[in-house]
Amino acid sequence: MRKQIAAANWKMNLTLQQGEALLDAIISKPHSLQANQQAVFAVPFPYLPMALQKLAGKANVFVAAQNCYSKKSGAYTGEVSVEILQSIGIQYVVLGHSERREYFHESNQLLADKVNICLEYNMLPIFCCGEPLDIREAGTQNDYVAKQLEESLFHLTAAQVQKIVIAYEPIWAIGTGKTASSAQAQEMHAFIRQQLAGKYGAAVADAISILYGGSVKAANAVEIFGQPDVDGGLVGGASLIADEFVAIINALK
Ligand code: 13P
Repeated sequence: MRKQIAAANWKMNLTLQQGEALLDAIISKPHSLQANQQAVFAVPFPYLPMALQKLAGKANVFVAAQNCYSKKSGAYTGEVSVEILQSIGIQYVVLGHSERREYFHESNQLLADKVNICLEYNMLPIFCCGEPLDIREAGTQNDYVAKQLEESLFHLTAAQVQKIVIAYEPIWAIGTGKTASSAQAQEMHAFIRQQLAGKYGAAVADAISILYGGSVKAANAVEIFGQPDVDGGLVGGASLIADEFVAIINALK
């Protein structure tokens, strides 16, 4: 059975004290993670040790970085390597979020390098893809997403690609309150799985978790996560509210 994941992406929000209070509130609320389910918290770099400490010993709960650099080490002031993250106990990294692609000009090629270095260190990438509004309006979203997958992931072996979690985040639905309909999400997730099957075979494609991101909240999570090819969500705004995120965790199938 594929992993079902509720991943919180705090982005560049909250002070340390607010982050601590949020995790305390989430931990204190009843939530049930089955064996195939995970909760992941992608927090700002300086809060990683705090989050690791607060969530230590909680089954199926992980802390993620929101980014890493593509080089092993060296004179890259301000960047954080996979080795640095691994040395403090981090196991997941979000890669290629649309905000990084847009504001920090991350290309498919750079992301291929980041994917490679993560896998070299056994760090699990949550690889983001998704189209902007003009592409959706032109109806070419499948080609756009297929190219993102091809250029950043399809050089991997079957064994490697199974370590990736994919997050489909249509850019027009991020932070806009405008969610893709569950049918639109399912359609793209099925397309992504079909692309994976074409390259790696159905068994590999079936094993890869594909999360949906873009205005997921407690009120729509059950319906979106209920789609056959949607394996959970990558959640921005609603992950900053304890009740919302706990309800989203509890909406996993
Ligand atoms: P929102 O949930 O705020 O739309 O953000 C989605 C997102 O970008 C998660 O990575």
